[in-house]
Amino acid sequence: MVNCNSILGPPGSGKGTQSPIIKDEYCLCHLATGDMLRAAVAAKTPLGIKAKEAMDKGELVSDDLVVGIIDEAMKKPSCKKGFILDGFPRTVGQAQKLDDMLEKQGVKIDKVLDFAIDDAVLEERITGRWIHPASGRTYHTKFAPPKVPGLDDVTGEPLVQRKDDTAAVLKSRLDAFHKQTQPVIDYYSEKGIVAKLHAEKPQKEVTDEVKKVLS
Ligand code: AP5
Repeated sequence: MVNCNSILGPPGSGKGTQSPIIKDEYCLCHLATGDMLRAAVAAKTPLGIKAKEAMDKGELVSDDLVVGIIDEAMKKPSCKKGFILDGFPRTVGQAQKLDDMLEKQGVKIDKVLDFAIDDAVLEERITGRWIHPASGRTYHTKFAPPKVPGLDDVTGEPLVQRKDDTAAVLKSRLDAFHKQTQPVIDYYSEKGIVAKLHAEKPQKEVTDEVKKVLS
């Protein structure tokens, strides 16, 4: 049986922190549209060039571009057992296209994890985040500090901050979440597959909630 789940929540709600844990626990592949788009931007591919402007401004990239990369990614052999979609679908249009793609494979979304959290908590999470680009490992100056400030625990390589992790761009990202992604949560709620989690809790407690929902 193919296991398909999606995590939705505002920027900084913990989607990227919890997804690798779910991936390992349930042997699923982790498909994060944000990570895929950043890789395309860094490689200056035609897709990356088209996506960059919207991402820098904190706006959503067009549905067609994002659905195309997910469609490709889901065909990977590592996704045979199922996948965890991190930050996808983010518009009702994307959700409808995803339903069509999955229907062709005879599967459907099992659970949508709604990482509910107050906007007021998110600026501190976003502006304190540091990333190890090669592995995607994420740190936070206050909540998950590296052993040596500014360096990755495993490789000792420098950590970087994302270009869109500023208080100003966060405002646009939150606006996009409330206007375009909250309706996606409502869309799946009508299908009875949404589990609401308390994403403001400490990391370990959120992991426990996720495991309860998925097992
Ligand atoms: P994307 O990369 O998906 O960014 P996002 O949705 O804004 O989410 P983040 O990655 O910022 O947050 P997160 O929830 O993963 O938080 P994290 O776990 O790192 O998308 C970027 C852009 O790409 C979009 O703006 C858009 O332009 C484009 N895009 C992507 N997908 C798209 C789509 N489907 N359609 C159209 N456009 C798309 O945690 C944040 C920090 O908090 C970390 O430092 C972490 O250590 C810390 N933390 C995590 N959990 C906790 C906790 N429980 N307690 C305390 N601290 C915690």
